[in-house]
Amino acid sequence: VTGPVEGAATTGTRPSRPRVVLAMEATLPSRLFDTATTRRLVEVARCDPGVVLTEFGSRPAAAALASAEILLTGWDCPPITESVLDRAPALRAIAHAAGTVKDHVTAACFERGLAVSSAAEANAIPVAEFTLAAIIFAGKAVWDAQRRYADRRGRVDLLAEYPEIGNYGRTVGIVGASRVARHLIRLLRPLELELLVYDPYLDPAGLAALGVVGAALDDLLVRSDVVTLHAPAIPETRHLLDARRLGLLRDGATLINTARGSLIDPDALAAQLTSGRISAVLDVSTPEPLPPSSALYRLPNVVLTPHLAGSAGVELRRLGRWAVDEIARYAVGLEFTSPVRLADLPRIA
Ligand SMILES: NC(=O)c1ccc[n+]([C@@H]2O[C@H](COP(=O)([O-])OP(=O)(O)OC[C@H]3O[C@@H](n4cnc5c(N)ncnc54)[C@H](O)[C@@H]3O)[C@@H](O)[C@H]2O)c1
Repeated sequence: VTGPVEGAATTGTRPSRPRVVLAMEATLPSRLFDTATTRRLVEVARCDPGVVLTEFGSRPAAAALASAEILLTGWDCPPITESVLDRAPALRAIAHAAGTVKDHVTAACFERGLAVSSAAEANAIPVAEFTLAAIIFAGKAVWDAQRRYADRRGRVDLLAEYPEIGNYGRTVGIVGASRVARHLIRLLRPLELELLVYDPYLDPAGLAALGVVGAALDDLLVRSDVVTLHAPAIPETRHLLDARRLGLLRDGATLINTARGSLIDPDALAAQLTSGRISAVLDVSTPEPLPPSSALYRLPNVVLTPHLAGSAGVELRRLGRWAVDEIARYAVGLEFTSPVRLADLPRIA
């Protein structure tokens, strides 16, 4: 068990062991917090990990809110509205043990000056790992070859049927220089690939720091063997890949979407995939899940997964540990490692 963060300069003098209240789906804490993390939480904070608020309206919730200094939130935390804040006069911070805070942290929280932290950085890790695997498997035509091998009971002529497979020298186009994308770039760096990045908010210095080549979106689509989407679902990115842009993808290209279904025009995508011109790995879709009648479930050039790229199973413990680390920092007067700022919300996930 590690103790509170030591040896670093503090930015203020906060009372030690802040009172922390959990607010999330009722069964989530047992999946987020293993024994060591729970022990660390009650060491750095005054917290009853057995008390989990799933709503803010009841009398017990009111009693917990009355003295809460930090809300440790997770999936399904109800919106923290003005009226919730009125009942939480001691509240100073929200540490979210998941990615986006947009579903529960309202503008009122920022207006009251609450410090907000998210575990989006930790949640980015499994998404980047999933994408790495998808890129490598797409380049090696693994899914297609696996099916042919099984269908024809071991008869695949590799040289004749897959003369161009492999990942050496391939171009990967990354849309959105997000936390997921930045981790993905770190994972891809040892591979002999060319990486192109499109992000309208990334300047040349930012590109240089990432060690990647910037490209306009259309150019990236034309030049990439694999295109992977990592931009947020915001009005600006709705149908970012429309029929015209999907048409720019190379014949045989693979499109990976672990971001959000809304980034692609679903009808145009279905048309491209049904034609067999391109392939796709789709962890997200519009709608989600797709209706049982969707052709995408049966197309041989489509790998559909049930929104599993982000933290799932044992990976939830990484989110829990991240949030408790943030609380440990807060307890000794340090800034959060992953602060969420109101000004950034319009262009982040
Ligand atoms: N499949 C899953 O389970 C899963 C899990 C986590 C995140 N996600 C999704 O992955 C995506 C990335 O998440 P994140 O937390 O890494 O994002 P992030 O908030 O860290 O970064 C978003 C990035 O997108 C860029 N951006 C904004 N507008 C853009 C535009 N028009 N075109 C291109 N880029 C633009 C921003 O500049 C920023 O760099 C989001 O869509 C998120 O919802 C999915």
